[in-house]
Amino acid sequence: MAQAHMGIIGVGTMGSALALNMADNGFDVTLWNLDPSTVTALVSGAGPLADRLHPAETIEDMVAKMPTPRAILMMVPAGKPVDMTIDALIPLLSPGDTIIDGGNSDFRETMARTARVEAAGLAMLGVGVSGGEDGARHGPSMMAGGTAETYASLAPILEAIAAKFENDPCVAHLGPDGAGHFVKTVHNGIEYADMQMIAEAYGLFRDGQGLPASEIAPIFKGWNRGALNSYLIEITGEVLSARDPKTGSAMIDMIVDQAGQKGTGRWTVIEAIRMGQSASIIEAAVGARVLSSERPTRAIAAPILSPAGEDMMSVVGEQDIEQALITGRVLAYAQGFRILKAASEEFGWDLDYARIAEIWRAGCIIRSSMLDDIADAFRTDLPHGRLILSDHFSEILKSNAGGLRRVVAAAALRGLPVPAFSAALSWFDTTRQPRGTTDMIQGMRDYFGAHSFKRLDDAGDHHGPWHD
Ligand code: 6PG
Repeated sequence: MAQAHMGIIGVGTMGSALALNMADNGFDVTLWNLDPSTVTALVSGAGPLADRLHPAETIEDMVAKMPTPRAILMMVPAGKPVDMTIDALIPLLSPGDTIIDGGNSDFRETMARTARVEAAGLAMLGVGVSGGEDGARHGPSMMAGGTAETYASLAPILEAIAAKFENDPCVAHLGPDGAGHFVKTVHNGIEYADMQMIAEAYGLFRDGQGLPASEIAPIFKGWNRGALNSYLIEITGEVLSARDPKTGSAMIDMIVDQAGQKGTGRWTVIEAIRMGQSASIIEAAVGARVLSSERPTRAIAAPILSPAGEDMMSVVGEQDIEQALITGRVLAYAQGFRILKAASEEFGWDLDYARIAEIWRAGCIIRSSMLDDIADAFRTDLPHGRLILSDHFSEILKSNAGGLRRVVAAAALRGLPVPAFSAALSWFDTTRQPRGTTDMIQGMRDYFGAHSFKRLDDAGDHHGPWHD
């Protein structure tokens, strides 16, 4: 039966925004939060939508207040709070009810939780929700995992509240149990990579060319009208334009250069490596955040490890940096989709890559005009299933890789770190090198461990004449 009423546990920033979005779309929402003051504040500020918001005093009160079958969305921090909430809900719910986890949960935990919830006779949906507060309020992109029946019962609400790309709701049932959270994790991995490359581009203007934020902002704003059109490029322009109300200087110049992370980028890299996939651009982005936390050490190291001297930044133009970002973005998406393919094969999910690209076209953090072309490429026959070999993207890479090459070379000579751009370039060059250098790895492995190697001119396993 389709749901017309939702319960939300965890009425923080995202929970509140989703509640208002649902109410706006004509759904009733029962709300419960450990700290009731957030619910009170939400309802009192909801204006005409308040009629659709129903606060509950306790979790028991919430369950009792809701019509059956119930659908309860948890918007609580990933990890232990999710398990605690499920433990509290299981004895209160009845067969036919559904527990939805809308947080950034580890997909392996979602798999285990789904088994636990189903064993209790209930249904579960693991939904990755992207778009931040604004997306949650006006239309997020949502990636769902669970049974087809469970998804179908919730599709009317999910489709109503989702972002729309030319009327197509940015939500889909992607596979069983952990599939939705896995796709969201990889979305975040791509998000990390894209953000890191944008930060590197900004750094080249700031440290390589000495431009103030006010002069970098219009460059990003201009790029947003071209091939790089995307949410992250758009907000970069806005971040660079903002003034600090306290000092009057550019806001960006007052922000400490240390970035945290909650885990999804790291999980993407861990899962990629576990499945034998290279996620080098995402890994560089995760590593850059880790090193950013070593701020005191970096300050001490600066005068000791003096910079490389040669300055080729003057030969790097604005267009080269734009091309570096275009190339890097294509390659980061390509890495992400390879990881999705590996997981789909390992877990038997049969992921629909074109649909994933489609539901990322609006609402989510990595939304960009490029995703429409990615969906098209997946809808046609890709040579060897490789995005970068499609007619469209191979042309983009051919015409933009030169900029990435010039940017990485000039940054290296000047001693400016561009870890994600460098990883992107190395990945690109590795994937297009007909004869690589792992023949040497194989020779050494056979030399010290008799691991054997394949010959170019003969089948079977062979050994070298090393110890004759
Ligand atoms: C989104 C975001 C959102 C959040 C993540 C990543 O898609 O809306 O990915 O989920 O930004 O929690 O956060 P960290 O950068 O803290 O890991």
